[in-house]
Amino acid sequence: MISVGIVGGSGYLGKKLVELCSGHPYIDDFDVYGNSSAGENLYSLFPEFHQLVTDKKIKSTNDLSFSHDIYFLALPHGEALKLVPSLISAGKKVIDLSGDFRLDSPDQYLKWYNIEHTSPELLKEKVYGLADLKDYKNETKLIANPGCYPTAALLSLLPLVIEWGNKIISITTVAYSGSSGAGKSPKVDLLLSEMDGNVKAYNVHKHRHEPEIFQELTRNGFNSDYTFTTHLLPVAVGIYETNIVYLSTNINQKKITALYNDFYSLSSFVRLRETPPQLKWVTGTNFCDINISVRDNSVIITSAIDNLIKGGGGQAVQNMNKLFGWEETAGLLTRREKNVSVY
Ligand SMILES: NC(=O)c1ccc[n+]([C@@H]2O[C@H](COP(=O)([O-])OP(=O)(O)OC[C@H]3O[C@@H](n4cnc5c(N)ncnc54)[C@H](OP(=O)(O)O)[C@@H]3O)[C@@H](O)[C@H]2O)c1
Repeated sequence: MISVGIVGGSGYLGKKLVELCSGHPYIDDFDVYGNSSAGENLYSLFPEFHQLVTDKKIKSTNDLSFSHDIYFLALPHGEALKLVPSLISAGKKVIDLSGDFRLDSPDQYLKWYNIEHTSPELLKEKVYGLADLKDYKNETKLIANPGCYPTAALLSLLPLVIEWGNKIISITTVAYSGSSGAGKSPKVDLLLSEMDGNVKAYNVHKHRHEPEIFQELTRNGFNSDYTFTTHLLPVAVGIYETNIVYLSTNINQKKITALYNDFYSLSSFVRLRETPPQLKWVTGTNFCDINISVRDNSVIITSAIDNLIKGGGGQAVQNMNKLFGWEETAGLLTRREKNVSVY
């Protein structure tokens, strides 16, 4: 049994982590750290936790204890960067859910996040934690949990890229997210009165997840053009993506279906579907549902995830399970029964 520190536990991802950790079979103790909510009780912040989670006082991130075995950092980017070095020096394991350690290059981090990276040596040491594709060594200390959009895109594309990377002419990802993807701080753009009955593209050619996806595609053999466009959906939770791939050669559906079936044969949380998935099939779960459709040299891969679970807290717990050598599903298959609000 282990003890866990949930830093940023008062935010959207933090709340998910509190819920998942409190029901986890191998966690017997956790503390929740917040910023403006420090000093409040969990029950006053999240009344829906009554009778489901043990009540606790939220501690201040400034008084972070070094007594836990592992730390989930669910903080705004730039804030995790300040905490990770001291935790790693103290021999702790860290799963960072922000973008602070996902990009390999400090220059790319400066370009996309507008912050000088103060621990470039840890960028080299970190493991990019796309949980379904990873097995960790005992000595792994720092896992950069992937972004929500990259999780759906990479799970959709990597089997194809790994097998046929040099035959791919271009990839385009058209992505849609619910408003919880932006965290809990109020923003006029995200008001119900703005978003109800509405859809819009945002951060076109400027989204921070684009270099992250491109980095992981190229790491796995992709060497062509990639285009990524994000849209806001009038829902609170969920990510939906349509990935369009052009190859230099024709390919048949049977071959590609066999490739994906084989690739994900041991994955507990990737479900290959015979029709395009729907958001409702995955919200409240750690699943990524994927459908693949082929015509001649074009492949269209649709995928859906819950951004707060598979795209955030659930994947982080899956990473922790793998890091400690537990079954990867531990604590992750019972959410819906708990009936806690989804954001
Ligand atoms: N939302 C998603 O779908 C999603 C998915 C994957 C990754 N992420 C990433 O995960 C991180 C957390 O996202 P979120 O959506 O959970 O954000 P959020 O709802 O805005 O929560 C942010 C958390 O960080 C704390 N915090 C804010 N400013 C701080 C500061 N200056 N110092 C210390 N703590 C501070 C907040 O504490 P108080 O509330 O107590 O002030 C809160 O606990 C972000 O980096 C985000 O990009 C988000």
